[in-house]
Amino acid sequence: MSDFDTIIIGAGPGGYVAAIRCAQLGQKVAVVEGRETLGGTCLNVGCIPSKALLNATHHLHEVHENFEKMGLMGANPTVDWGKMQSYKQDVVNGNTKGIEFLFKKNKVTWLKGWGQIAAPGQVKVGEQTYTAKNIVIATGSEPASLPGVTVDEKTVVTSTGALALEKMPASVTVIGAGVIGLELGSVYARLGAKVTVVEFLEAITPGMDGEVQKSFQRILAKQGLKFIIGAAVKGVDVTAAGAVTRYKLRKDGSEAALTSEVVLVATGRKPYTAGLGLEALGVEMGPRGTVKTDAHWATNVPGIYAIGDAVAGPMLAHKAEDEGMAVAEILSGKHGHVNYGVIPGVIYTTPEVASVGATEEALKEAGRAYKAGKFPFMGNARAKAVFQAEGFVKILADAATDRILGAHIIGPGAGDMIHEICVAMEFGAAAQDVALTCHAHPTYSEAVREAALACGDGAIHA
Ligand code: FAD
Ligand code: NAI
Repeated sequence: MSDFDTIIIGAGPGGYVAAIRCAQLGQKVAVVEGRETLGGTCLNVGCIPSKALLNATHHLHEVHENFEKMGLMGANPTVDWGKMQSYKQDVVNGNTKGIEFLFKKNKVTWLKGWGQIAAPGQVKVGEQTYTAKNIVIATGSEPASLPGVTVDEKTVVTSTGALALEKMPASVTVIGAGVIGLELGSVYARLGAKVTVVEFLEAITPGMDGEVQKSFQRILAKQGLKFIIGAAVKGVDVTAAGAVTRYKLRKDGSEAALTSEVVLVATGRKPYTAGLGLEALGVEMGPRGTVKTDAHWATNVPGIYAIGDAVAGPMLAHKAEDEGMAVAEILSGKHGHVNYGVIPGVIYTTPEVASVGATEEALKEAGRAYKAGKFPFMGNARAKAVFQAEGFVKILADAATDRILGAHIIGPGAGDMIHEICVAMEFGAAAQDVALTCHAHPTYSEAVREAALACGDGAIHA
């Protein structure tokens, strides 16, 4: 008799969701977590604290930029950084405690400590070894390091340090114009810091739709973020005058430097599997430190599975959650599945940016005949009322069948609206299906319908 049916290592969105689903499906399940609180990177030092700071500073931005336009005069709040940090921590605590509650409710055992897989079916936590029929690796990821840059989490920080700076910085250099760099760069820019983003490639948010990239950069620049694009960072030196970021422009090889109070290194994350004992077990690894799995998240070692940031695919909480749910179903004799073609990506800046499915660039490269229906938020009454009419919705559909292949939104509420397209794509819908669906007025979502109409006989308000 094993101690448990399944032991999951790591209590992030992948691990805790897998555990709850296993328990719901009748399994005796335990989760090993070494952190003091449940919820992993996402709840403790990722998605949740960053969204709290984005929310607080979004309101600050609204006061400064838009209140007087609406006749709300005289508001001039000062920032109590300590209080803003407490608010952020309260949001985090509420959510991590929530997972603890869900574990109790579902009778999931939390084995506190760092786990090591001693052998298939055996997990060692401290001095204790527990047995299980199956083991799921859900150990997540950690920030990738950059040659020439030493992180001290005070002056030169990763996202973890950037979320908990002791004081508001006057200036921040962000290395990497990806999701972390732009979300946290926005936070500090809204707080009044001089923010400069240095990006290696020729565009921000690599992999996103090209038109969205251009529009997004223009909007962020108007909000005060400065961009140095096509620049390879060579190193950061911490001096008495501040942190000096040295970079080389790729187009002409010229070198330059910029000094700031804080440097945020946001050049990607890598799977975290240290201390698990995978090498001794002979677990096969994939590219970039990922644990290699088959389509059912099984590694090459029978009884050992892996999900979330530790395996291939986008490093997103909801992707980890979906894999957690699917692997739990498979380990319970059911048919778990994840549709990797319909995983939305959202950047929670103001305005939000959201996308799902193929970009125009990817369709062109694949030689696929497609049509693009685009609708600007300038034609959306609700977006104009909240001063966020700069972006657009773009829907890409198959030229012959009208089936939706992808959607890209930059505008208010983009992160919620994208799910209308996700559901449509899951059902194999055509753009016309969305175009013929009545959308309430006045909502931002009308812009989605208009973009779908633009795939056919044309949008009404453009
Ligand atoms: P993790 O959440 O990393 O959890 C893994 C857990 O395993 C950790 O708690 C770790 O302590 C534990 N662990 C590791 N090894 C062991 C061991 N040997 N024994 C015991 N425990 C172990 N994604 C989004 O979708 N939306 C967002 O808005 C978003 N914002 C983000 C903001 C930031 C600043 C960062 C850094 C990330 C953000 N992400 C976001 C990404 C998201 O956090 C990850 O994709 C997600 O947390 C991955 O979940 P996971 O379960 O695979 O791993
Ligand atoms: P990222 O992969 O999104 O962006 C890294 C950026 O750094 C890229 O633009 C890359 O070209 C650039 N870069 C790499 N080396 C460089 C160098 N030497 N000099 C200058 N630029 C360089 O990684 P990021 O932002 O660190 O985020 C990590 C992960 O966390 C992502 O996979 C993301 O999915 C996830 N995340 C998701 C969020 C969301 O869903 N809203 C929010 C924050 C993080």
